[in-house]
Amino acid sequence: MIERIEKVTGMVHRVYNFYPGPATLPLPALERAQKELLDYAGTGMSVLEISHRSKEYDQLHHEAMNLVRELMGLSDDFKVLFLQGGASTQFYMVPLNLHVEGKPMEYVNTGRWSTKAIKEARLFGEVRVVASSEEEKFTYVPEEVQFSDGAAYAHITTNNTLYGTQWHSIPKVANDVPLVADMSSDILSRQMDFKRFSVIYAGAQKNLGPAGVTLVIVREDLLDRVPENTPTMQKWKTHAEKDSLFNTPPTFSIYIMKLCLEYLKEHGGVSAQEKLNREKAKILYDIIDSSDGFYRGHAKKESRSIMNVTFRLPTEELEAMCVEEGAKRGLIGIKGHRSVGGMRASIYNAMTLEGVEKLAQFLREFREQHQ
Ligand SMILES: Cc1ncc(COP(=O)(O)O)c(C=O)c1O
Repeated sequence: MIERIEKVTGMVHRVYNFYPGPATLPLPALERAQKELLDYAGTGMSVLEISHRSKEYDQLHHEAMNLVRELMGLSDDFKVLFLQGGASTQFYMVPLNLHVEGKPMEYVNTGRWSTKAIKEARLFGEVRVVASSEEEKFTYVPEEVQFSDGAAYAHITTNNTLYGTQWHSIPKVANDVPLVADMSSDILSRQMDFKRFSVIYAGAQKNLGPAGVTLVIVREDLLDRVPENTPTMQKWKTHAEKDSLFNTPPTFSIYIMKLCLEYLKEHGGVSAQEKLNREKAKILYDIIDSSDGFYRGHAKKESRSIMNVTFRLPTEELEAMCVEEGAKRGLIGIKGHRSVGGMRASIYNAMTLEGVEKLAQFLREFREQHQ
């Protein structure tokens, strides 16, 4: 049976997938899942079919947690949670678990996802937007921000998926102000001093694995901030105390995430991945910068993202043609978000150098034909 499946994989048609998420995953991780799908670890059952209380599942669940710890270099002061509901659920779980009567919750507004997070926080108390790039169409990240000493917490979105902007430094906060980050679209893409954050959350479907699981990392001492009368499932503490096995977790998503994390570890971890990501991003930004204005980047240079490369062409007709012709070459998902327009190539961890080189070659030729 396994032999037959391997043959099918050998013939399978794969394209270069630049979608912003769910996004491309490492092929070896998918192939491993394919091989193991019908009989997981000799159980005679699929991982889709086994109990989350079985020893086989328990083992993979904890292995996935340990991989997150190891790859991010987290100390024991942090709890790693696997939750559901996407990063969007954390938009309200953050204020729910961290707000403090009489203290403002402080946010930097760098795009649509920060805006949504701010809207949810307002349900819980006073929100102060300490900086925003909205007036300039979110083309940059205002990194010189001043959070106040008395804030309940400070919140940033480290990578702005729609606009292709990214924080390149970690803002300063007073010692007792927790720094919270939505890292949905750049987690594990570059080395960072993760200790400087108190809470990190990310939907898995860009850099970690498939949709369905949300990674939340919380400094343990913050788990007691939540009001007693909060519904059980909405407290991080509930999940932290049971290692995210309080109720049925999204087992299959966690399993695939584990395979993706193993792949990352085997290929040199975050430092090697960062080197590759910077190389990939440079290839595309060089194409934009050397195009004599044919390709125009959306993001200001100093705020450019190494995960989402956004740009425009001279006309919308050319943009539509570029998307269509790219697709014919197996370069899929390069249309920009409808609210920004233009083009966007999402080059998350699993996008190969080869894929980016193919896209660069296509963009070079497209310009030659149409400039
Ligand atoms: C930075 C960022 N935050 C939050 C979200 C929302 O994530 P989810 O769909 O998991 O709720 C996204 C989705 O693209 C995102 O890019």
